Amino acid sequence: MSQDKIKFAVIGCGHIGKRHAEMISRNDAAELVALIDVKPKEALGIESFEGAQFFNSLEDFLASDLSKEVEVVNVASPNGFHAEQALLCLENNKHVVIEKPLSLSVEDAQKVIDTSKKVNKTVFCVMQNRYSPPSEWLKGVIDSGKLGKIFMVQLNCYWNRDDRYYKPESWHGDAKLDGGTLFTQFSHFIDLLYWMVGDISNIQSQMRNFNHEGLTQLKEDSGMVQFDLQEGGLGCINFSTSVWNNNLESSLTIIAENGSIKVGGQYMDKVEVCNIKDYEMPELAPTNPGNDYGAYKGSAANHHYVIENVVGVLKDNAPITVKAEEGLKVVEMIERMYL
Ligand SMILES: NC(=O)c1ccc[n+]([C@@H]2O[C@H](COP(=O)([O-])OP(=O)(O)OC[C@H]3O[C@@H](n4cnc5c(N)ncnc54)[C@H](O)[C@@H]3O)[C@@H](O)[C@H]2O)c1
Repeated sequence: MSQDKIKFAVIGCGHIGKRHAEMISRNDAAELVALIDVKPKEALGIESFEGAQFFNSLEDFLASDLSKEVEVVNVASPNGFHAEQALLCLENNKHVVIEKPLSLSVEDAQKVIDTSKKVNKTVFCVMQNRYSPPSEWLKGVIDSGKLGKIFMVQLNCYWNRDDRYYKPESWHGDAKLDGGTLFTQFSHFIDLLYWMVGDISNIQSQMRNFNHEGLTQLKEDSGMVQFDLQEGGLGCINFSTSVWNNNLESSLTIIAENGSIKVGGQYMDKVEVCNIKDYEMPELAPTNPGNDYGAYKGSAANHHYVIENVVGVLKDNAPITVKAEEGLKVVEMIERMYL
């Protein structure tokens, strides 16, 4: 491994951008050199990253001398900016790490992929729940074929997002910047579904807005989506952000020829049921707790693995954990669910 540290910049210094900045700072092979946000520096709580230069716009950063040294830009701004900012970075010869979702349309995701190929730079998608021990374990069990044919898969995403989350000044709930609950809250779980059992077809969705009228510009807060699995089984997603007061669960239940599994908890962090023919469940390492947003819990705090993967790919040709094409697939599945 080359001894030179990989220089990173982070755009969007909110909850998740600061996690990226922290995880880059903690990685011995990485160096955080720039932070970018439209808010004033003093309003962002980024004092601890004193070695990083601050810029008020991506354009200013890209025009700076410092930009020439930066190899990777982590895009952690609101969803609606991901594609345009990633494109600008790629066009300026940076690799990009893009927070979920890759974009809010297939068209934009495709532009990001096409541009990355043209400039020969890598797009890393952030789907850090893949690193949780129950997810890795379940993926291994499914890929081993032990379960035989998969008959049914049920993904339940029942979270609370109310006026404590949808504040007027926030991008949350904004039609153009948020895009919808399947993009903002549940794309991690749709990614896990795709990673585990592949593509879906014959999608039928029913969606409702139960209690977010006037609170968000989004059409739905809840829905039931049914589909066929690519290998022939049936699947469904039930989702809601209308759950009273706090998150209920995010779970994946699999009914298969040789067994049944339920991975549950607030963010698919616990194996609740494992009944598989001739198989004993191994002990799993504990899952990292969900990212903490005060009244809210988000998905698993696994961002250090994301930065490790970027470093491994760029320095040692390690395999990339979540490819741009997989990020696009999740956007495409969500787009079809919303049709
Ligand atoms: N992987 C995960 O588990 C996870 C969890 C939460 C959020 N996210 C994603 O991370 C992204 C950020 O979410 P958050 O919770 O940190 O939001 P946030 O509101 O806390 O932070 C967003 C930051 O982006 C800044 N910003 C807005 N417009 C900008 C622009 N044009 N250029 C630069 N900066 C701009 C804002 O000023 C703010 O500081 C979203 O895409 C979200 O979906 C991922």
